[in-house]
Amino acid sequence: MGPMSQPDNKQRHLIAAINPKSPVSEAYRTLRTNIQFSAIDQQMQVLMVASATVGEGKTTTLTNLAVTYAQEGKKVLLIDADLRNPSLHQVFQQSNRVGLTSAFLNHQPITDVISETNIDNLFIIPSGPIPPNPSEILGSQRMQMLMDDLKRIFDVILLDTPPVLPVADSLIVSSYCDGVILVVHAGKVKKELVKKAKANLDHVKARILGVVLNNNERSKNEGQYYYYYGRKK
Ligand SMILES: Nc1ncnc2c1ncn2[C@@H]1O[C@H](COP(=O)(O)OP(=O)(O)OP(=O)(O)O)[C@@H](O)[C@H]1O
Ligand SMILES: [Mg+2]
Repeated sequence: MGPMSQPDNKQRHLIAAINPKSPVSEAYRTLRTNIQFSAIDQQMQVLMVASATVGEGKTTTLTNLAVTYAQEGKKVLLIDADLRNPSLHQVFQQSNRVGLTSAFLNHQPITDVISETNIDNLFIIPSGPIPPNPSEILGSQRMQMLMDDLKRIFDVILLDTPPVLPVADSLIVSSYCDGVILVVHAGKVKKELVKKAKANLDHVKARILGVVLNNNERSKNEGQYYYYYGRKK
């Protein structure tokens, strides 16, 4: 997403909230159900959506998934851990003046930087001011402690992250996650890059739950969202 993005483009992120009866929203609910089934014996409390490269639909998938969990009555927290190109505050039209990084900069209590959204049960922590050392922050002991605290407050925590290939941030964040969903911009991203991203995630022992095929082009005409979910490697 670039500076040229139109407001209606941002709104699209939250189709699950705007039009819960649409087939697109139904697809997000199916994704939620499949995540639950993928881990019968294990709790899937902390999740992230990864992609090999920029703009494949991570934030869109993550935020809509968050809405479907909230609609189910779960207490849900979205954290913007994309400290390089944050966008959760834009999706929810909130200020980014304080957020995750404030808990590091000013030692502000993390509960002070959680904000409500206009969706019941759904809360966000924006990124806060962009720091010079995102990887260091995300990999810190303090981050681990914050996550432990937040897990006591929320039923589901979803972390937004940068793409896997250019920087280590998402691999670091995956260590806090019970599961990772890989989103692939269908038809646009080279297979080798997807394989490389998956290898990187495997290397840090991330648990990849499945793959979402996102097709931006098609969905532009009448919002169809084609996805694929499975355990194929
Ligand atoms: N299924 C879809 N249909 C239509 N537009 C989509 C779809 N998925 C994503 N988009 C649009 O494509 C752009 C990129 O999506 P998004 O911001 O979710 O990707 P991202 O992987 O989070 O990007 P980044 O790597 O920059 O964080 C956005 O403008 C978004 O609205
Ligand atoms: Mg994003």
